[in-house]
Amino acid sequence: MGKPSLKVVAGQDIGPQRKAGKKLSPEKKPLTKANAALHPIVVADDIFQSPELKRKAYYADAHSIILNMDVSEALKTLADTGILVNCIVTSPPFYGQRDYGVNGQIGLEEHPSQFIDKLVSIFGACAPVLAPNGSLWVNIGDTYWSGKGEHKSGEAKQNARRFGIRPQDKKGDGKWCIPKQLLLIPHRFAIGMQDKGWIVRNDNIWLKPNPIPDQVRDRCSMSHEYVFHFVKERWYYFDKEHVGRETESGSILPPLDTWEVPPVRGLHHGHKARFSEELVRIPVLSTTPKNGVVLDPFAGSGTSLLFARRNGFRSIGIDIKRDFCKMMVAGLEKLNKGGN
Ligand SMILES: C[S@@+](CC[C@H](N)C(=O)[O-])C[C@H]1O[C@@H](n2cnc3c(N)ncnc32)[C@H](O)[C@@H]1O
Repeated sequence: MGKPSLKVVAGQDIGPQRKAGKKLSPEKKPLTKANAALHPIVVADDIFQSPELKRKAYYADAHSIILNMDVSEALKTLADTGILVNCIVTSPPFYGQRDYGVNGQIGLEEHPSQFIDKLVSIFGACAPVLAPNGSLWVNIGDTYWSGKGEHKSGEAKQNARRFGIRPQDKKGDGKWCIPKQLLLIPHRFAIGMQDKGWIVRNDNIWLKPNPIPDQVRDRCSMSHEYVFHFVKERWYYFDKEHVGRETESGSILPPLDTWEVPPVRGLHHGHKARFSEELVRIPVLSTTPKNGVVLDPFAGSGTSLLFARRNGFRSIGIDIKRDFCKMMVAGLEKLNKGGN
C-alpha cells in the first residue's frame, strides 16, 4: 500500500520538528503519534480546485468534484494531483446483483474470487489519495451461489434485478461455488484487504428492519449487509462527539457496530442500488474533520456527496456511468440553490 506524501497539505500540524542539538520547551515537544492522528489533515483549496483536475472533471464547483471515469483511471487522476481525502465511503457493485450496462463495470466476473481480487486492487489504488490518518468505509453484501440457470421466479426483488443469467446462476466450480452456498464475499474481501496491509477496525452490521422477504424455506431470511471500517495506520482521526451515545453522566461513548437503517426502496432518481444518507452518517461525521474531503469511488446517484455537502464537507464522486453523474450534478445543483 502506498504511503502518501504529507507535503501537499495545508492546515496540517503534526508538531514542530526537533532540530539536532536543540532542546524544545515542554509545550513545543513533538506530538505523539496518537495525538498527531487527531490533528486534521485538510487539503488546500488550490489542490482541490486545481485547473488540471477541473479540466478532467465531469463537474466541479467549490465544494464538489465529479469524475465520470472508470474508478482506476479516476483514482490515478486524483493521485497525480496530490490530493488527500479524509474519508472514503462507498458501496461498490455487489457480486452478480446488477447490470449497469456500461463497459468496464465491475460485479459480473465469472468467479467470485476475480471480483474480490478486483475490489482489493481498486481499494489499494485508493490508498495514495487517503490521508495517513484517514478512514475507508466499504458497504458490501453477500450472495448465494444458485447454479439453477436463469431466474424464473416472480419474486419482486429478483424481478427488479433481472438481467438474464447472473454469474452465480451458472454451473459453478463444484468446490466453493455450489448450489445454496453463501459465498461469504464480505469477509473474504476483508481478509484480502488485511493481507494487503489494511487494518480492519469494525465489520459494522447494517441491519434492515423491513427487508423484502426472500423466497426460501430452509434458512433464515437475509436482513443485513456490512460496512467495513479500514484504516492505514494504527493512529487515525476519529471524533465520536457527533455520532456517539450520551451516558446519563453526559459523557460520550462510541456508537455501536450495529446500525438499524431502513433500506431505500425502488428506483430513486433512476438508480436502483442507492443507499440512504443515514448509512454514511457515522462514517462521514466521525472521520472527516472540519472542511475535510469525502470521496465516494462508486458514487452512483451521489448520496455520499449530498450528505457531505449538507454537513459542510467537500466531496469527490466517481462513477463510470454518465447518467449517474448527471443525476449527481442535478442533486448538487438543487442543494446549491437551497433545495433539499
Ligand atoms: C451500488 S452502486 C452505488 C450506489 C450509491 N451508493 C448511491 O447511493 O447511489 C455502484 C456504482 O458503481 C458504479 N460502477 C460500476 N463499475 C464501475 C467502475 N469500473 N468504475 C466506476 N464506477 C463503477 C455503477 O455505475 C454504480 O453506480
